Amino acid sequence: MSKQMVTVIDHATGKQVDLEVLNPTDGPKTIDVRKLYKELGYFTFDPGFMSTASCWSKITYLDGEKGILRYRGYPIEQLAEHSSYMEVCYLLLHGELPQADELHTFEEGIKDRSMLHEAVKSFYNGFRRDAHPMATMVGVVGALSAFYHDHLNIHDPEQRIVSAMRLIAKMPTIAAWSYRYAKGWPFVYPRKDLSYAENFLHMMFASPMEPYDVDPLFAKALDVIMILHADHEQNASTSTVRLTGSSEANPYAAVAAGIAALWGPAHGGANEAVIRMLNDILESGKPLQHFVDRAKDKNDRFRLMGFGHRVYKSFDPRAVIIRQICHQLLNNLGPQGRQYQKLFETAMELERVALEDDYFKSRNLYPNVDFYSGIIFLAMGIPLNMFTVLFALSRTVGWISQWNEMMGDPQSRIGRPRQLYIGETERDYTPMEAR
Ligand code: CMC
Repeated sequence: MSKQMVTVIDHATGKQVDLEVLNPTDGPKTIDVRKLYKELGYFTFDPGFMSTASCWSKITYLDGEKGILRYRGYPIEQLAEHSSYMEVCYLLLHGELPQADELHTFEEGIKDRSMLHEAVKSFYNGFRRDAHPMATMVGVVGALSAFYHDHLNIHDPEQRIVSAMRLIAKMPTIAAWSYRYAKGWPFVYPRKDLSYAENFLHMMFASPMEPYDVDPLFAKALDVIMILHADHEQNASTSTVRLTGSSEANPYAAVAAGIAALWGPAHGGANEAVIRMLNDILESGKPLQHFVDRAKDKNDRFRLMGFGHRVYKSFDPRAVIIRQICHQLLNNLGPQGRQYQKLFETAMELERVALEDDYFKSRNLYPNVDFYSGIIFLAMGIPLNMFTVLFALSRTVGWISQWNEMMGDPQSRIGRPRQLYIGETERDYTPMEAR
């Protein structure tokens, strides 16, 4: 079959170049512009990567128009219903669903690596108790390469898998300890008899004074939420991990960079911002339309947090599942869940008001993954400033799988975007007295 080409003609010079059209297995065809600069001397301009594929990938597919999200081809709805977070980690990292023995070995490998070097404990003491746990996460994860020098040959696929498993394994411990440090509570060590989600909840909430039983409802809800957050193709934090890793930096440094990128309220920080917004709405006693109007006002920086997405132009499939989990969890919790019911009802009502509004309709702004997740976290007893940490914990497998894919590509090169320079042209230095 002949290749499809797109011809770019420079009418100023009469030169032209034929660019190959690359065919994805799914999604829009992609024009390979690599020859453009060499042949015509032009860059392409695409701030925010609105139409640019920054890499190839076989890991995650999403169709924003249809609200589709698939990991390695498997629809997110099926994974959320039938799979487990550990199985999804294996799938993302290795490309296929595991056999029973493969999953067992993988889970054991994760459990065996979940402890932290004892010296990491003293690293926490350098932080103020009131530090945001995301700040602690960036620091501690970035420091891991100082504790784990072995298996850092990033060109060896087996060593990359060891680093990947270490990161997945240690992240719950690092996350839970960042919370306990802020509380002034003693650190709790991971336990091999608990699942990944149970272990995290145990390390967060167990007290040395009495036995702590993890609520199976919470563990199940957390496991599904982690599946939903595990990867999301080339978002800001994943692209940051790839860009950092492309300089051949170690994987811990690359993931620390990803955590930093995730922190912003336009990205993973939105789950925290949603709860602050819902609380403000409830405290103000003002009608929801007031906040919807503020979000529409271009002179007001207020936005409906948890609404809108760069790629999804219809329902975010993750939000649909999370809303359902929220509903089930609050119902199953009985009286304990009632205190969060008001928040949930306000969120659902806000969704209804916004989705009936022309501004939101015409811009295809729908609730995203962060809109309902915070209510579930609150009901589990997880404090507000840990929400984005949970996102980081769940996304680590996505970051490291994408990094592994990139490092395994012999053609992979350092990421080095170009720019459209609009500053001053050359001018002579002016001595101070002449300025
Ligand atoms: N509230 C009010 N208006 C909005 C919102 C919102 N939440 N989101 C987008 N818009 C408007 C925006 O003002 C713009 O209007 P106009 O065309 O008149 O200038 C239009 O919709 C397109 O928005 P954009 O900012 O150009 O879109 P983007 O793709 O650059 O930004 C976004 C996507 C997610 C950063 C943005 O929708 C947003 O800030 N949402 C609130 C924060 C949030 O919930 N973030 C979590 C994202 S999902 C999880 C994750 O990625 O981590």
